[in-house]
Amino acid sequence: MHRKALQRSYIRPLMQGAIGILSGLSVFGLSQPSFAEDEKRLFEFEEAIKLTPDVDNGKRLYKASCITCHGPEGWGVPGSGYPQIAGQLKNVVIKQLADFRAGNRDNPIMRAFSSRNSLGSAQAIADVAAYVASMPMTPHNEQGFPLRLQEGKVIYDKLCADCHGEQGEGDPKEHVPRIQGQHYSYLSRQFNWIRNGRRRNSDEKMVKQIKNFTPPEQVAVLSYVASLKPKNVAPPGWRNRDFHTFDRSWRPMKIR
Ligand code: HEC
Ligand code: HEC
Repeated sequence: MHRKALQRSYIRPLMQGAIGILSGLSVFGLSQPSFAEDEKRLFEFEEAIKLTPDVDNGKRLYKASCITCHGPEGWGVPGSGYPQIAGQLKNVVIKQLADFRAGNRDNPIMRAFSSRNSLGSAQAIADVAAYVASMPMTPHNEQGFPLRLQEGKVIYDKLCADCHGEQGEGDPKEHVPRIQGQHYSYLSRQFNWIRNGRRRNSDEKMVKQIKNFTPPEQVAVLSYVASLKPKNVAPPGWRNRDFHTFDRSWRPMKIR
């Protein structure tokens, strides 16, 4: 996605937000947030992407703010809505954090944890994103429907590979997410949200591309995506020594 498209993807939700705020103002008698604040959020992504990350500080931030939901390995929880974020491309993590912060993705939990008050400046976004990107991925992600893989591959190669890469490895320059090896139920939740507009930072071309998918086609293509094997997978039984004291009987709260 190019700069213009990127800005469009911010501007649309901001406009919607502005209308919401204006109509809310009369009810609550709040003062209007300054235009400068919005501008700041708009360019936070571009700012963070240019900074040199401090990975050690990223590790510290991860432990302080992310570990209780995404887990000590960053693998999320299969079947729960908590995504694996380990191994996600650094630029994508930066973009997603900036988007949650700006309210472009509809998740109150992540909005709170990515907020300036909780996480910190653009530098903090860059630091934690670099740490997350360096984590190896799970060898046991949640799979979809194995009988649909062949059909899924045909659809994937035709309609997704151009943007997400032949093996779902993503594209750092265009901050297209790595989707290979993600948990199936998370893929399917995001796919639905992108399709029905609930995820407001979606790529417009992708939305058009998937508009006419039937449910069986969706199941097939996402099963195939979940089955794609990333290169940076951890060996079986691997544990993240950075957090060796973390209680591994941990499970985050159920969400829906
Ligand atoms: C209280 C639980 C919780 C905490 C703490 C949390 N997250 Fe999340 N995170 C989630 C949930 C739930 C989602 C899925 C949101 C959705 O479905 O839109 C998510 C999604 C994400 C995504 C998007 C993944 C994708 O592929 O779309 C990224 C990146 C992310 N989190 C990074 C972080 C980082 C970095 C931290 C720490 C600063 C953090 N999260 C803290 C619960 C949490
Ligand atoms: C025109 C380019 C393009 C095409 C074609 C495309 N995508 Fe995407 N996709 C994107 C971009 C860009 C994002 C990230 C949007 C954002 O959050 O900034 C994305 C996000 C996603 C996500 C959410 C990932 C996450 O970690 O949150 C999934 C799942 C996904 N795409 C699956 C697919 C599948 C399956 C296909 C084929 C049917 C497809 N996409 C076709 C560009 C594309």
